[in-house]
Amino acid sequence: MSNKFYITTPIYYVNDRPHIGHAYTTVAADVLARWHKSRGEKTFFLTGTDEHGIKVAQAADKNGKDVKDFVDANAQTFKDAWQKLNVQYDNFLRTTDTKHIKAVQAAVQALYDKGFIYKGEYEGLYCVSCEQYKFEDDLVDGKCREHNEKPVLMKEESYFFKLSQFEKILEQKISSDELKILPPERKNEILSFLKSGLKDISISRKNVKWGIPLPFETSQTIYVWVDAFLNYLTGLGWQGKAGEAPEFFPPEVQLMSKDILRVHATIWAALLLALELPLPRQIYVHGYFTIGSQKMSKSLGNVIWPEILVEKFGVDGVRYLLMSSLAWGQDGDVTMERFVEKYNADLANGLGNLISRVVTLNSKFKIQNSKLQSKIKNFDKLINELRFKEVLEGIWNYVAWANKYIEDKKLWELVKNKPEEGKKTLAELLSLIFEIGEALEPFLPETSQKIKEILASGKSEPLFPRV
Ligand code: MSP
Repeated sequence: MSNKFYITTPIYYVNDRPHIGHAYTTVAADVLARWHKSRGEKTFFLTGTDEHGIKVAQAADKNGKDVKDFVDANAQTFKDAWQKLNVQYDNFLRTTDTKHIKAVQAAVQALYDKGFIYKGEYEGLYCVSCEQYKFEDDLVDGKCREHNEKPVLMKEESYFFKLSQFEKILEQKISSDELKILPPERKNEILSFLKSGLKDISISRKNVKWGIPLPFETSQTIYVWVDAFLNYLTGLGWQGKAGEAPEFFPPEVQLMSKDILRVHATIWAALLLALELPLPRQIYVHGYFTIGSQKMSKSLGNVIWPEILVEKFGVDGVRYLLMSSLAWGQDGDVTMERFVEKYNADLANGLGNLISRVVTLNSKFKIQNSKLQSKIKNFDKLINELRFKEVLEGIWNYVAWANKYIEDKKLWELVKNKPEEGKKTLAELLSLIFEIGEALEPFLPETSQKIKEILASGKSEPLFPRV
């Protein structure tokens, strides 16, 4: 692995504030970025907001707000949420930033000059919530699969990007893992989609005012997805020049969920090839949070807000619950009741209890923590594979082991009756707690820090009050 690490999240639509689906992707990126930083790699973590297009403009309208004021306010709700969740990004890119707008225009001009863009007319069904044209295959009972919403018929003069000419090369790069898509079932899904053929796509809109003007025909605006994809470049200071990759580019990992894999693996990748820029190394696709097996989404209205969780469980409580909720690549059904149960079992009773018992029992010995022979297995491989739930389960096996060890040994009696043996056992447990604290650092940064402080001072403080 190279010694730089560039990771991105999707930039989220600002038609509303973030829910825990967005929080999942962002915290996962934060965990990975923190882990790479802690290993001394030059790391860059980019996130941001996608602010143009019909969907956002319509939402502003519905709320009776001026679009610019609306996007400013909603972009801020994302920043606030990430701050509450202790997410340390290196840049937060908003597509309404002037620098981004200029670079997107320069890039689209470059694509036009290179002959990748031509004028035509488009007629098709458009799903506003997806901001995508839909084909018959994408619909169930005439409605969009993702949003359960009827697409609208659109017919307009438009400029097209020659996506079809990238079909073979994309198939080759994805099947050879030069652009690696994980999990494998998602890669296969894209490969079979590519086999069914790629069509050129419309990349400008005549009737959408809320967007970036097309540089060579300013009465039209640039398709919001083209505008959005280029954030992964402009977020690093790129100015729109073909063949000039900014520092840190390409991404080692691009995180997203299933909803937007296809557009990334086709349109985004083809734009990069057309712009003579390197492809991302890896796209990792996580599953959805569902509620009663329906995707949690703003359009469907069944959401849990991250702020509410932070109030209840604290920042690290939420980071833990999020990261342990989705198995690798799988959907996960969530409810508030299950969050409460898991928090109490794993954090209040599990880790919190372990630390307070050990520290209390040690108070009369005051054994200084020193790391003994390592007990914890190495989680590097699992973290590299983004198997966060498995890492946490692995760490919690040690927590459970330690709590049971205390019971089995009746440690509270041992320290009284056989102090030498009691001290030995305590030293062992202190060392294990120290290691657990280290392993938790990218996941629960504050807790990890507190564990160090508690071990140094010998004074316990409640880490996770019962809910
Ligand atoms: N603006 C586009 C992305 C442009 S990227 C160049 C977009 N925005 S979005 O607000 O709809 O965010 C979609 C992403 O949010 C998903 O890919 C995923 O990362 C996250 N999630 C949204 N809902 C989710 C769940 N129910 N569960 C898990 N993650 C979800 O698409």
